[in-house]
Amino acid sequence: MNAREIIKDIHYVGVNDRVTVKFEEQWPLPYGVSYNSYIIKGSEATALIDTVKIDTVNTYLPKIGGEKIDYLIVNHMEPDHSGSIPEVAKLYPEMKIVCNAIAAGMIKGFCHITDDSRFLIVKDGDEISLGNHTLRFYMTPMVHWPETMMTYIPDLKTIFSGDGFGTFGALNGGVLDSEMETGLYFREMYRYYSNIVGKYGRSVINALNKLKDVELNYICPTHGPVWHDKINDVIEITRRLGSYESERGIVIIYGSMYGNTTEAAEEIASHLNRLGEKNIIIHNAAHSEMSDMISDAFRYDTLIVGSCVYSMRLFPPVEAFLTAMETREIKNKTFGGFGSFSWATGAAENKFKEFSERLKLPLAATFSFKHAMHDGTAKDAKEFAEQIWEARNK
Ligand SMILES: Cc1cc2nc3c(=O)[nH]c(=O)nc-3n(C[C@H](O)[C@H](O)[C@H](O)COP(=O)(O)O)c2cc1C
Ligand SMILES: [Fe+2]
Ligand SMILES: [Fe+2]
Repeated sequence: MNAREIIKDIHYVGVNDRVTVKFEEQWPLPYGVSYNSYIIKGSEATALIDTVKIDTVNTYLPKIGGEKIDYLIVNHMEPDHSGSIPEVAKLYPEMKIVCNAIAAGMIKGFCHITDDSRFLIVKDGDEISLGNHTLRFYMTPMVHWPETMMTYIPDLKTIFSGDGFGTFGALNGGVLDSEMETGLYFREMYRYYSNIVGKYGRSVINALNKLKDVELNYICPTHGPVWHDKINDVIEITRRLGSYESERGIVIIYGSMYGNTTEAAEEIASHLNRLGEKNIIIHNAAHSEMSDMISDAFRYDTLIVGSCVYSMRLFPPVEAFLTAMETREIKNKTFGGFGSFSWATGAAENKFKEFSERLKLPLAATFSFKHAMHDGTAKDAKEFAEQIWEARNK
């Protein structure tokens, strides 16, 4: 894709990555990802917003090569955006690097650019002029790192939001949402948010509050489409996710070595379906991608976790999932736990209880059974499902 003017004086110079298998070496990229970068051509000066991951620098540099860049604005220092800073800095020795003090420390550490005269340090509300356009900086710490900031152009009502409002999925020709089918990006937004930004809901809400009175015609994130037509939808999804508000749906995540816990999971799902739930998603923790499990658990209101007991602990893939939930400080869920054991009565229940207490996520119901399912345990599974149903409908 060539550089193109997407908004008056704003040129898209980002790149697509359809090669990286896992983002941050963890999160699958079935549809790729874009690293977005933009050039703003003012009447007096030109600014480049963020760069791209170093693996894609050879595609990137020719897009910006023809321009004289006066300022490089660094909104976020994660290497998917900062990786090419050293190359760009080499190409434009006169260029000033505009960033906040925390980012400057990171640039010195990550990029070995230590000459203070190269930096223009900005604080919340500071502005620089490009002539007919002004750039204003809003500090938005922890969306997604401590140095994260956003850059706003008042006369174009356009914000460069870093990872905020970003999504997985490479761009397939178009850049603006109005130029494309956006369904894929909205589906991927849940996975992107919950996997990458999930822990920082409070910071996301703080950033939204800070931007409350800022008029937005265009949002230019670092990943995925530029939002224009669908700005309200994107802000609303971000607000919901940032506030840990859920949609209606039941997610069952279970781990089982020999099928006993599986059988209970199927039984519970069947009862919940008979009680009226149509939206039930079951993940076998040993097979499903962690990325999808986190995304579904984040999105829906009821989380049921099942595990066989394994050396007095929960089955390792289930334990890993619960750790991911804890890392993201998951809230506002109807939560239940179940599982099978052979000799350690109550071991799984204790683990679920500890998790529930640490996360202040009430344990709506729990049940475990010795060995295989039989008529008695089938009845317990039914009661468990009914207790969950009652708790979530309270
Ligand atoms: C490697 C291994 C470790 C186990 N550790 C325990 C344990 O510490 N406590 C216990 O009660 N059962 C333990 N069990 C027994 C299983 O929890 C039990 O067989 C259960 O029914 C398995 O459920 P599943 O069919 O869903 O895999 C262990 C089984 C295996 C294979
Ligand atoms: Fe990031
Ligand atoms: Fe990013």
